[in-house]
Amino acid sequence: MNDNVDKVAPTRESVEAELLRRNQELTELNEKLSLAQAQLLQSEKLASIGQLAAGVAHEINNPISFVFSNFGTLQTYVDSLLRVLVRYEEAERFIADPDVLRSIADLREQVDLAFLQDDVQVLMAESREGIERVRRIVQDLKDFSRVDAHQEWQWADLHQGIDSTLNIVNNEVKYKADIVREYGDIPEVECLPSQINQVIMNIVVNGAQAISGPRGRITVRTGTREDHVWIEIADTGCGIPPAIRSRIFDPFFTTKPVGTGTGLGLSLSYGIIQKHRGSIAVQSEEGAGTTFRIELPIRRADADDALETLS
Ligand SMILES: Nc1ncnc2c1ncn2[C@@H]1O[C@H](COP(=O)(O)OP(=O)(O)O)[C@@H](O)[C@H]1O
Ligand SMILES: [Mg+2]
Repeated sequence: MNDNVDKVAPTRESVEAELLRRNQELTELNEKLSLAQAQLLQSEKLASIGQLAAGVAHEINNPISFVFSNFGTLQTYVDSLLRVLVRYEEAERFIADPDVLRSIADLREQVDLAFLQDDVQVLMAESREGIERVRRIVQDLKDFSRVDAHQEWQWADLHQGIDSTLNIVNNEVKYKADIVREYGDIPEVECLPSQINQVIMNIVVNGAQAISGPRGRITVRTGTREDHVWIEIADTGCGIPPAIRSRIFDPFFTTKPVGTGTGLGLSLSYGIIQKHRGSIAVQSEEGAGTTFRIELPIRRADADDALETLS
């Protein structure tokens, strides 16, 4: 009888092994669940902020456009007025009437004309910069919330896109870092090319902004993994402190001074990569640098199906 029991009852070791295996499975499942939850949260946040941003951008866009345009005209008017004023000043010596001359001199002193002539240009320049900044933020907001009606999915050579993007941002990068290209052999990818370029641009500019002090390096690598193409952008910048790593993709999250960062670059990028059913991940070491890795499916078909079941 004893013999019998021994045969059917599992040994303690096998039970433990089974428990361990199940525990392992559960842990993995749990991790996947947390990841999915985090992604869901991120995409919901993006969707609602996107709507809000679209509304605000639309409202601001119109007034800021005419302020910007009027400001250009105003600048030419001010320039003309100042030129006329110079002529009047030159003509003053032909005025014979001492009363008129004195009243002019008084008025000039009252309004501090010399200072005013200089300062008016400074104020104009500062204001123009302010308007430009608002325009840029509005543009970011519009990009951020863009509905892609007029965007075309195309088969694109990503290296070409990356190269032209690197050219565009060259000005932001060239004084701070060398750009190293380590391109792999990758096929064309079906994507929204201008949006992918925008992602590359955001990440490279962030990389350059993270580099201060001695000259750094930004390395762009590409390659394939199964039916995906990956792009890695690594910088030798300050790194991202662990405490804020989970927030960098949040809309409006920025650690940069007012005027430098809007905190929209990475959330915009996140949204774009999500639309491509790809992934974007970050690895960072404080004081050593940061690497962003993007993976994109080579063809769009799967991406489309997934998108349809979602919406
Ligand atoms: N390569 C990087 N190195 C260090 N910090 C980074 C890097 N990329 C992003 N970050 C951090 O993530 C924040 C959000 O980035 P982003 O969304 O592009 O907004 P912004 O650049 O306008 O601040 C940055 O303010 C910065 O703190
Ligand atoms: Mg940025």
